[in-house]
Amino acid sequence: MNPFKYGQVVSGVDFCPRPETQKQLANYIQSGQNVVVYGERRIGKTSLIYETLTNASKRRMLHIDLMDVKSLEDLHARMAKAILSMEQRSGSLEKIFSLLAGLRPVLAMDPYTGQPTFSIDAPAKTTPNSIEGLLDLIETLNQKKPLAVFIDEFQDILNLPDANHTFALLRSKIQFHQEIPYLFAGSIRNAMWDIFTNPDNAFYKSALPMEVGALNRDLFSDFLLHKFEAGGRRITSELFEEIFELTDQVAGDVQELCGALWETSAAGDGLDESAVGDALERIYAQEAKGYESCMVLLTALQVKCLVGLARVGGEAPFSARFLQEAGIATSASITKTLNRLMKLKIIFKHEQGYRFTNPFFKNWLLWKNI
Ligand SMILES: Nc1ncnc2c1ncn2[C@@H]1O[C@H](COP(=O)(O)OP(=O)(O)OP(=O)(O)O)[C@@H](O)[C@H]1O
Ligand SMILES: [Mg+2]
Repeated sequence: MNPFKYGQVVSGVDFCPRPETQKQLANYIQSGQNVVVYGERRIGKTSLIYETLTNASKRRMLHIDLMDVKSLEDLHARMAKAILSMEQRSGSLEKIFSLLAGLRPVLAMDPYTGQPTFSIDAPAKTTPNSIEGLLDLIETLNQKKPLAVFIDEFQDILNLPDANHTFALLRSKIQFHQEIPYLFAGSIRNAMWDIFTNPDNAFYKSALPMEVGALNRDLFSDFLLHKFEAGGRRITSELFEEIFELTDQVAGDVQELCGALWETSAAGDGLDESAVGDALERIYAQEAKGYESCMVLLTALQVKCLVGLARVGGEAPFSARFLQEAGIATSASITKTLNRLMKLKIIFKHEQGYRFTNPFFKNWLLWKNI
């Protein structure tokens, strides 16, 4: 079985420790501090919070995932569902019903497993009052048994028609939940940053910022090496250098590449840098359709700019060198082009310039020699 996991939350033996960050986060949780967790995509924000809450905290986890939340009704439903599943994990049937009576839980039987399942009978129309009601319920539940609220993809509230109002509504209650640690995480770094640093947002300075960066290189190499060795593969240190270089040390991408190296090798093999080519081709085979459907959305200029970013790097896309290498006549429309590529989430802005969201897309462009 392939021991490398990606595209999902990792915990337990699949989680490479982040000792200092976990300790700091556990301390914040213990003291009821609100925290906002920042970091690049697939760097490990959700896994860090999940692992810390499950293994280093006595509090129960109320996990509300707001990815692609669409409306106030949807927000209500997701909060209610999170409350229900937390109670289901820790309580008895009667207790769940009495605690959640206001939410009108509906009990049914799963026809396959025979297990009870619950759903929430959503109110006909969600009003600010019904959201406030759930926040009050969270406080009551915390008094019975301490909990921590983990709100993931928090920036997606910005999708709601009345985002500012919704932030204000949430904040008006959360600010009185002084005993409850709220952990906010999100994958769109700039949007998250803005929510917590813009004085016009109700969440301005309402949580301590915590940065999640690359995993410690030695710890992560040992963690990966151990998995390769357990499967009879020997790996050179040069190959590790190459893996980290190709992926900018983003944990999810490192694991994806290691997973492909695993698939393209067998027990007893010794792997060096020459193994990377086959592994990348395996990734392209899985992902090329996605890359191609991105490419058809681009104008000729946007393609030139993208290929230029892949070849030259994204540190200075306005420089004469970049323009020349990319075959672009003038810098006049570069800003617009970069904005379009960012809007499509193909690239993002990093402190050191523009980067590909998916490093394998970048390598595919070079490989195809587009
Ligand atoms: N501590 C870790 N040890 C090993 N692998 C990790 C660790 N953290 C993250 N990963 C890898 O990164 C992938 C993404 O992790 P996770 O979903 O936690 O990141 P995220 O930052 O929340 O991502 P997103 O930006 O998509 O929300 C995991 O599937 C796993 O492959
Ligand atoms: Mg996440």
